[in-house]
Amino acid sequence: MKKNTKLYETATALLEPGKGILAADESDATAGKRLDMVHLPNEPEHRRDFREILFTAPDIEKYVSGVIMYDSSIRNSTKDGMPFADVLTAKGIVPGIKVDLGVRDLEGFKGEVVTQGLDNLAERFAEYYDLGARFAKWRSVITIDEDETPTEQSLKINAIMLARYAQIAQAADIVPIVEPEVIHAGDHSLERAELVTTKALQILFQTLLEYRVDLSGLILKSSMVLAGDSYSDQTSPEEVAQATLRTFHMSVPHACAGIVFLSGGQSPERSTQNLNAIAKMGEQPWPITFSFSRAIEEPMLKAWGGKPENVQAAQEALVKTCEQNSLASLGKL
Ligand code: 13P
Repeated sequence: MKKNTKLYETATALLEPGKGILAADESDATAGKRLDMVHLPNEPEHRRDFREILFTAPDIEKYVSGVIMYDSSIRNSTKDGMPFADVLTAKGIVPGIKVDLGVRDLEGFKGEVVTQGLDNLAERFAEYYDLGARFAKWRSVITIDEDETPTEQSLKINAIMLARYAQIAQAADIVPIVEPEVIHAGDHSLERAELVTTKALQILFQTLLEYRVDLSGLILKSSMVLAGDSYSDQTSPEEVAQATLRTFHMSVPHACAGIVFLSGGQSPERSTQNLNAIAKMGEQPWPITFSFSRAIEEPMLKAWGGKPENVQAAQEALVKTCEQNSLASLGKL
């Protein structure tokens, strides 16, 4: 297979030690939930303000290597008219784009879903590349329920979708982030989460290899392995670190460019502590860092409160959170 060095350069930039990726790729509907927290209506001007605060924060580039945007944000600009992708590029931050179109029911498999968005993906990537995107994200959703769920069938069909997306991304010189999110909500034990995550990742990487995806130009975005949020016995950072790394060692080939974490509804503090515990376990075959959304944005939203006079405080809170996660990714907290 012909090697694509552009992909490796992008992946290396995204995985620079001490930095992580900000997942600011909320759909417009989900951005509305963030705005709800600061009592603003979900209107384009407020969504722009929210995203502008994130992307223009002074010094965020010290801790953030890439930002994942949503379709409406990569097409949007600051109040002064500078395209958001250019704002990021000027800071040395790699612009990224979420390209999946969300999930639909997987008929015949109660409670399971499959991710949409492969139609016209090559054309969409060509346009996103022109808009400045150099990496992308596709999320599949895995829910842990009764003994049967997730089924092997749902893991397989979602893995094929992820592999097809990754092929098309790499052909467009765009680094694919593959995100099989194992949902934290539920009453499952740590052991069950570990079994399910290991199986999901084994099926995913086997499928990526079968479809000749170049793993050196691909990043895994994973859940941390932890007990469900309503399970009686909550998991300590050390337990999370051990279970998560055991899972990766059982399933992620060393060729994979790197691994980044979603926060999955854990509090900002817990997400950071768990990341720190994982980093403290020592060097691994892959660079490992954060790609949080809620765990990065929550402190910033609290400081902002939707008020123009708080924008500076919001940006300071944001950069502080990113700095803490940077330290955690190095095991230095
Ligand atoms: P959270 O960190 O809020 O889980 O979001 C990360 C993400 O990219 C979800 O797709």
